[in-house]
Amino acid sequence: MPGVRYFAQYRAGLGELVIDCLRHDLSGVKVVGSDDSSVLFDSRSEQSKVGSLGYLKNAFAVLATVPRSTPQRAAERVADQVLSTPMLRGQRRVTSFRTMVSVDGKLVGLPRPAKAKLESAIGRATGARLSTRGGGAEYWLVGRRDLQSMLFCQRLTSGVKNGAAGSLGADLASLLVTASDPRPDDVFLDPFAGSGAIVLARMSLPYDRVIFSDLAGQPVPTEIRRGRRVSVLAEDALELPSVRTGSVTSVVTDPPWGEYDELGTDFATFAAQMMTGMDRVLDPRRGRLVLLLSRRAAYVTERLWQPANLKLRQSHQLLVNGHPATAQIGGRPGSGS
Ligand SMILES: C[S@@+](CC[C@H](N)C(=O)[O-])C[C@H]1O[C@@H](n2cnc3c(N)ncnc32)[C@H](O)[C@@H]1O
Repeated sequence: MPGVRYFAQYRAGLGELVIDCLRHDLSGVKVVGSDDSSVLFDSRSEQSKVGSLGYLKNAFAVLATVPRSTPQRAAERVADQVLSTPMLRGQRRVTSFRTMVSVDGKLVGLPRPAKAKLESAIGRATGARLSTRGGGAEYWLVGRRDLQSMLFCQRLTSGVKNGAAGSLGADLASLLVTASDPRPDDVFLDPFAGSGAIVLARMSLPYDRVIFSDLAGQPVPTEIRRGRRVSVLAEDALELPSVRTGSVTSVVTDPPWGEYDELGTDFATFAAQMMTGMDRVLDPRRGRLVLLLSRRAAYVTERLWQPANLKLRQSHQLLVNGHPATAQIGGRPGSGS
């Protein structure tokens, strides 16, 4: 199957991890260009697969490109191409549609004649009717500062869900889980589970067992409490007395970002105990670990992987709600991730 060109938008600051996860989830990914919150890439994967990736704010299949100009001029050019080329021929199942224009991440309006010309061309090419309320296909004209061309695209996603206040966000949780190379026979643990965003992201994929643990004892989401083969614990992550030695194949977690003073210890001591605990619970052959840390904390933990018999394979620099952060990804030396 020849590749399709895709355009995807994500939360600013997550680019390194997003591109890594696209390579993990899709086949034959070739990045054409990227900026802090979007990527243009080719892939052999189906559009439905790209549209189902939970960490993208928006994903689009690129149908055509036109030289960068005013949105009005670009819309007129696209309308001409829609009528003179077969680009919308495969879209016969579309029954209704609407159009959107986005320039540098902001929705903008089109002058009425240009909008009417574009919509009439799409209507003729697809046989679909215009429905401004949405619910049908969405055709977007997208301009970005870093792109020489404007893209005419079909939208594949309806956007990521927001996480609970103070939680990571479903997109970042899903990225971290993907980075752990999830497998159906995983026994998964998040020892600092908080609101459960990472656990929920892991539960959306096949697993053998999932363990949620957090010392704070805040309410645990119903989907987790009622989940099949899910244990809910409220144990100290530095001890985890109910978790058997070597029984966990995958840990993805977001340890506390700055409450060490309240814990009555410094971060270096806390981190060393945490990594000793990870060494104990992780499967000695297959164990994998993904940590999300503040950038400062990451400088401390990067030296603690090897003493814990773990290999740090990748570090991605991120911005999480404006704060510099690092995702550290690795596992047992033979675990392959
Ligand atoms: C940065 S938050 C995790 C947020 C979580 N990823 C989410 O999306 O809600 C860190 C969590 O670690 C918990 N915590 C702090 N020290 C702990 C310890 N020693 N053992 C277990 N949990 C601890 C806190 O209660 C807090 O919920």
